[in-house]
Amino acid sequence: MTIETKILCSNRAVRHLEPLNARHTFGPAAVVFLGPPGAGKGTQARHVANEYRFPHISTGDVFRTHVAKKTALGLQSAASMRRGMLVPDEVVCGMLMEHIRDLGSTGCLILDGFPRSLAQAKWLDHFLHTRTGESHEFPREAPVAIQINIGRDQLLRRLAGRRSCPSCGRLYNLHFQPPRNPEICDYQGAELAMRPDDSESVVCERLMVHDQNTLPVTEYYRRKGRLLEIEGNDTVNAVRAAIAVGLESVFAMQQHKRHRGLGI
Ligand code: AP5
Repeated sequence: MTIETKILCSNRAVRHLEPLNARHTFGPAAVVFLGPPGAGKGTQARHVANEYRFPHISTGDVFRTHVAKKTALGLQSAASMRRGMLVPDEVVCGMLMEHIRDLGSTGCLILDGFPRSLAQAKWLDHFLHTRTGESHEFPREAPVAIQINIGRDQLLRRLAGRRSCPSCGRLYNLHFQPPRNPEICDYQGAELAMRPDDSESVVCERLMVHDQNTLPVTEYYRRKGRLLEIEGNDTVNAVRAAIAVGLESVFAMQQHKRHRGLGI
C-alpha cells in the first residue's frame, strides 16, 4: 500500500473522529510526526493521541523531564539539548525502547520528535517489526509519517512566542494562543516559562540540525510510500482537520486491505 498525499488545510469545522475499538487492532504500528522546530508536531500529536486514545511519546518532553530531575539520562542529554544538537542515536533509541516496553501495549504509538535521523528511522522499523511480531493475533502495518510543512518566518514567530506553565505544562503562544493575562497561566496563576532552547541562536542551530539530519528522514518515508504531507501554515484547528482526513484515509485503506485478506 502506498500513502503519499498532500493535504491542504481548509477552515471547515474539525470532524470528530470516533475512537473505534477496531483501530486498536489494525492500522500502522506508529504514526510519527515530522517537521521543523515549531511546526506544531507536539500540538497536533497530543490531539491525535487523545482522539484515538493511543499512547503519545514526545522524546523532547521525556528528555526535558530527565534533565529537570537530573537523572543519569538527563545529564547525558542536557548539553546536546542546550546547544540545539541531537542527543546521540543510541541514547535516544535505548530510552525509547524502555519507555515503550514500560507502556506494555501493542497499540499504535504516536511518536512526536522521533525519528530525527536515518539511523533512528531504520531502528524504529526494525523495533516495531519485532514488537508487533510478538503479537501474532494483530500484526500491525509499518509506521506512517505526517510531515507538517511551514515557512521559516512563521515558525520563528511561533518559537519566540511559545510559553508553557511550569506547574501544569499547558502550552501557550503570546502571538497565537495568548493567556488571558500576559505571561500568567490561565489555570494555575503561575508565571509562564520560555524554553531555554527557544532563544534565537539555539533556534538557528536546531533548524540547521533539522535540515541536515531530519529532512532525509522525510525522504525515507516518501520513498517507502508512507508519507502524509500537511500544510501547517494555518490555524491549529485547520491543521488538525487536515491531519484527521489523512489519517482516516490511512485507516480506511488498511481496513480494506485487512478485510480482503480475511476474505470479507
Ligand atoms: P523537541 O521538544 O522535540 O523540539 P522540536 O522538534 O524542536 O520541536 P518543538 O517542540 O520546538 O516544536 P513543535 O513542532 O512540537 O511545535 P509545538 O506544537 O510545540 O526536542 C527538543 C530537543 O530534544 C532537541 O533539540 C534534541 O536536543 C532533543 N531530542 C528530542 N528528540 C530527539 C531525537 N529523536 N533524537 C535526538 N535528539 C532529540 O508548537 C510551537 C508553538 O507554536 C507553540 O507555542 C504552539 O502553541 C504554537 N502553534 C502550534 N501550532 C500552531 C498553529 N497552527 N498556529 C499558530 N500557533 C501554533
